[in-house]
Amino acid sequence: MSDSTFDLVVIGAGPGGYVAASKAAQLGMKVVCIDKSYLGGTCLNVGCIPSKALLESSALFYRAKKGLKQHGIGLGEVGLDLPAMMVRKAKIVQTMTKGIEGLFKGRGVTHFTGMGQVLAPGSVAVQGADGERVLSAKHILLATGSTPVELPNLPFDGKHIISSTEALTLEKVPERLVVIGGGAIGLELGSVWSRLGAQVLVVEAMEQILPGMDREMAQQLERLLKRQGLKFLLGAKAQTAAIAEGQVRLTIATGDQERVEACEQVLVAVGRKPCSAGLGLEDVGVAVNERGQVLVDAPGRTHVDGIWAIGDLGPGPMLAHKAEAEGVAVAEQMAGRTGQVNYAAIPAVVYTHPELASVGASEEAATAAGHAVAVGKYQFRGNARAHCMDDIDGLVKVVADAHTDQLLGMHILGPQASHLIAEGVLALEFGASAEDVARTVHAHPALSEVVGEAARAVAS
Ligand code: FAD
Ligand code: NAI
Repeated sequence: MSDSTFDLVVIGAGPGGYVAASKAAQLGMKVVCIDKSYLGGTCLNVGCIPSKALLESSALFYRAKKGLKQHGIGLGEVGLDLPAMMVRKAKIVQTMTKGIEGLFKGRGVTHFTGMGQVLAPGSVAVQGADGERVLSAKHILLATGSTPVELPNLPFDGKHIISSTEALTLEKVPERLVVIGGGAIGLELGSVWSRLGAQVLVVEAMEQILPGMDREMAQQLERLLKRQGLKFLLGAKAQTAAIAEGQVRLTIATGDQERVEACEQVLVAVGRKPCSAGLGLEDVGVAVNERGQVLVDAPGRTHVDGIWAIGDLGPGPMLAHKAEAEGVAVAEQMAGRTGQVNYAAIPAVVYTHPELASVGASEEAATAAGHAVAVGKYQFRGNARAHCMDDIDGLVKVVADAHTDQLLGMHILGPQASHLIAEGVLALEFGASAEDVARTVHAHPALSEVVGEAARAVAS
């Protein structure tokens, strides 16, 4: 094989692309992974990881300010050093990026920095700082991810009308921040800046925050976030913004009424769109739907032989672990093995406090799918460990089929829900019944007992 001939060219080094590249190399393939900017993609650089770093720091700040007296711990005045918080976040990103560099080296994956474009099946052009080179490969994997959706009448200016990328690097805590979109980004980054002292208003077009999630759980989360100081306008849409002297005056329509909110920044978090434009897809016959998603047979196989697409670029939830699972599955398929992704058991977590985690069907979705639904619930305030942790808000809700007891979904609003949901994912993966979860012995005293109790409540 020449220097420019590979078994696999991966375009995009996010969690989909870098995981696929590394897995394919492990399975014996000669792999090159190209990215126009950084290793780790959105997730590592401007998504999952920096947001979680700020969520952890801001939660500690909030807790230190509000909540240690009952533990018998007295503190002096609690101060905020925002630049230091940002440096810590940047160091975590750097450590994780270096980890991918090491992984690529260890597995023999070649990495080029440049813009990739498909010329034909088996042929990719890379435009880098040192000019263009053309790479040949048996397989091409498209993993170019997504970018924030812009609202036509509120275009991003990077300063006052911002996306999540800028909201992760603000140099000062805004006095007032309006967030458009009560989805994962709006609630997570809204929480960060609220905990650090901003007055945060979330404007959501639908009548509930997190519209895809179980309604009861989303409503409970909204109530708890309100208690933390966040404000919500539901069934509302931002119209226009006038910017003068560092202030935004944002006009918001609620039903047939209009109101104006003044703030320093407007964070627009109304979804993300796949990066499918400019990849040369139309010329090679790869089909893209009206939302810009590359059409695939699950998982990852486009209708053109040898061209694959995964992660945010394809259909399904825009989640890092979904992209990773697809990355592994397509690498296995390319290597002649069986690669599968169980799309019915992909967890979703919103990292607010408390966290909201879910897997499988909501109560509404299960009912709409024709199930007679049996629900079991248990509150964290009934759990001793939650009391020891001083973290008693929230509940676990188990959704099962009333006739067969088959587990259909699990929803956890509570401390460490992102970890606890793994039990629900595994139970769904193994086709468990609610009784299987109920009869599973949980350690005491542990938060996971709430999962067992909720499963037990299905039968009561
Ligand atoms: P990406 O991570 O977007 O990577 C695509 C890569 O392709 C990029 O590096 C880009 O530079 C490169 N690229 C694009 N076009 C080209 C081209 N033509 N040539 C070369 N390179 C190209 N998900 C979770 O599961 N959990 C979370 O907690 C979470 N938090 C998030 C927080 C925020 C603020 C945001 C914005 C997103 C978050 N997500 C989270 C979503 C997650 O980041 C994405 O689902 C995930 O990154 C998708 O992975 P991907 O590999 O498909 O694409
Ligand atoms: P989202 O799709 O999660 O939420 C967008 C919200 O904006 C929806 O509730 C929608 O109803 C609302 N909306 C749309 N247009 C509106 C308008 N004009 N006015 C008011 N509200 C409007 O998108 P978000 O939060 O931008 O996140 C993008 C992607 O990133 C998501 O797919 C998500 O999965 C992923 N992500 C995941 C995280 C996690 O797993 N913890 C964290 C952050 C992002």
